[in-house]
Amino acid sequence: MSKKNKFYVTTPIYYVTAAPHLGTLYSTVLADVVSRWNKVLGKKTFFLTGTDEHGQKIAQAAQKTGKTPKEFVDSFIDAYKDVWKTYNIRYNHFIRTTDTAHVAVVQNWIKMLQDKGDIYKSSYEGWYCTPDEAFVLEKEVEEKPQEGKAPACPQCGRETTWVSEECYFFKLSKYQDKLLEFYKNNPDFFAPKERMQEVVNFVKSGLKDLSISRTTISWGIPFPGDEKHVAYVWADALNNYISAVGYGQADKKDEFDFWWPADLHVIGKDIVRFHAVYWPAFLMASGLELPKKLLVHGWITVDKQKMSKSLGNVIDPVVLAEKYGTDPLRYYFLRQLAINQDGDFSFKELEQRINSDLANDLGNLLNRMVTLAQKHNVENLQAPQSWSDAAQALQKECELTVKDFQKHMSGYSFHMALAVLWKFINKINAFFHAQEPWKLAKQDKDLFIQVLSATAHSLNAVATLLWSVMPTKMDDLFESLGVNFELGKKSLDTLFVWDKQFTLKKIETLFKKIEQEKMAEQKPKVEEKKVEKKVEEKKDQYIKIDDVVKVQLAVGTIEQAEEIEGSDKLLKLRVNCGDLGMRQVLAGVKKFYKSEELIGKQGTFVLNLKPRKMMGIESQGMMLFVQDQDGKLQMVTVAGPVANGAPLR
Ligand code: MSP
Repeated sequence: MSKKNKFYVTTPIYYVTAAPHLGTLYSTVLADVVSRWNKVLGKKTFFLTGTDEHGQKIAQAAQKTGKTPKEFVDSFIDAYKDVWKTYNIRYNHFIRTTDTAHVAVVQNWIKMLQDKGDIYKSSYEGWYCTPDEAFVLEKEVEEKPQEGKAPACPQCGRETTWVSEECYFFKLSKYQDKLLEFYKNNPDFFAPKERMQEVVNFVKSGLKDLSISRTTISWGIPFPGDEKHVAYVWADALNNYISAVGYGQADKKDEFDFWWPADLHVIGKDIVRFHAVYWPAFLMASGLELPKKLLVHGWITVDKQKMSKSLGNVIDPVVLAEKYGTDPLRYYFLRQLAINQDGDFSFKELEQRINSDLANDLGNLLNRMVTLAQKHNVENLQAPQSWSDAAQALQKECELTVKDFQKHMSGYSFHMALAVLWKFINKINAFFHAQEPWKLAKQDKDLFIQVLSATAHSLNAVATLLWSVMPTKMDDLFESLGVNFELGKKSLDTLFVWDKQFTLKKIETLFKKIEQEKMAEQKPKVEEKKVEKKVEEKKDQYIKIDDVVKVQLAVGTIEQAEEIEGSDKLLKLRVNCGDLGMRQVLAGVKKFYKSEELIGKQGTFVLNLKPRKMMGIESQGMMLFVQDQDGKLQMVTVAGPVANGAPLR
């Protein structure tokens, strides 16, 4: 197969400090859709994903658990692979940066650049952001931090730490002009295009050489010839894109020559600099072609806030899959969130999309068509000899839709592609309704067959275009039409040549509606009714189980504890309650606990008390204590570690 007909797409490799969340799932679904879409177009694809396992961030996270870094990262791999499987992510290779082959590639790559003179030894002093694994540039530290206080990372806002160490540098400055020339000649390198300017400005403002080794951590790839050093995690991680397809491995030369350069790196907006500046410079230094494109997506926020473990607003993809199924969520990601913007995740919008777009517009249409055909004993549906004007108009719409959809997909404007497709689905519905086939069945059998056939041809086109987004559901739709969908075998232009025969079959409802009373927006009303009922029952001397349930009792980890100036009783706690959020809780236990004794401990909390202020500071919950025989308050805790937010039963 010629190289022109291949497509190599990658996801970022994920830091394995926890199981995948909605944000990492989003990057991965985007790459999966692109990979599948290229298969639909008849391309040979390679889809790479994996995990970024070295560096300070992982080492620190592992230390907290008492595991070695390798034990720690190993413990998450199954969770990643399971979630990807659940969401039908069909990757070709899952790379781990601890894989022996990758380690050898990185070491040889470093040696090669040393021989070439692009790596030299010196020393680094400056601020480092561990969560981002990034050196903070002097010019980025806007204000002089207060005495004794580290500046916030300009990217993520979290606290940086001071690093002063001997290290190896990569001659990044040498590539400044070449990079600028590359951006100028390849404006299509960035999708969306708007992402280019900030990168150009950054490079124009002057590139300093990049530190690519660390001595103050040991969890990393040993630097060849100087094992006091380990490779800087980004110098290690970026190379995954070439090591996974055979770079520097003699037995895989043909493989590498075939797949490289990557056609698309899918990345989040937070890691543009690494992919648009450092990575191209590394490749230029290595004499390798540059990737063809970066697809930069925005962030998924929850309640307009960044999702993060510390804020406790992380949404678990496994829970979502159980409740809504995976294809609807894949659809929601692509339809609701515009790639170039941040998008707020909303249960309400997800449910509306399921009920309206999927169940009503698409699922019902298929169901009505197949049910009617069955009622009139039509199973084998032949293409008619001629078409009515209305059917011809629908066929023309089908042609325009196939072309428009392709155009938007090739520009990675997924929400537009789906909007165009839904416009067509609405037209099929309008056609079906206006033709009144239930009447034609008795009055004009030929016209009846025409309406069914036009609808089936249209749905066949819809399923083909939608397959990359909702593969399982579209396979069901094909089954219902009796279509043997052969990936990439036929040009998409055959979708508007209406000469096909269908064998109709009733299948289980394609998309189940979320019942009204279970919808997210209805929840508060349900609560209100319960409260009213409770008031009536008040006279009873016993409380009911509902009354107990009314108190939201849950476990949380105290992440910060500090004294409050002027108070001899209160401590101010910052508590991670998992999915229930971060809470600031005031506890009157200063007499009994030093703040450092509480940090890292799991306690039990009442979380639905009305917030109230003490000493001018709001308390958003109550921590539970019990008084012992000496009058000391002892915290009520759990016998072993449990998930933050776990309810008490
Ligand atoms: N390990 C690096 C990438 C190395 S690639 C050679 C890394 N890992 S990460 O796990 O922190 O993030 C990986 C990707 O997930 C990034 O593209 C990031 O943008 C994406 N997301 C993480 N949280 C996200 C959201 N809340 N929303 C959307 N995507 C976000 O960076």
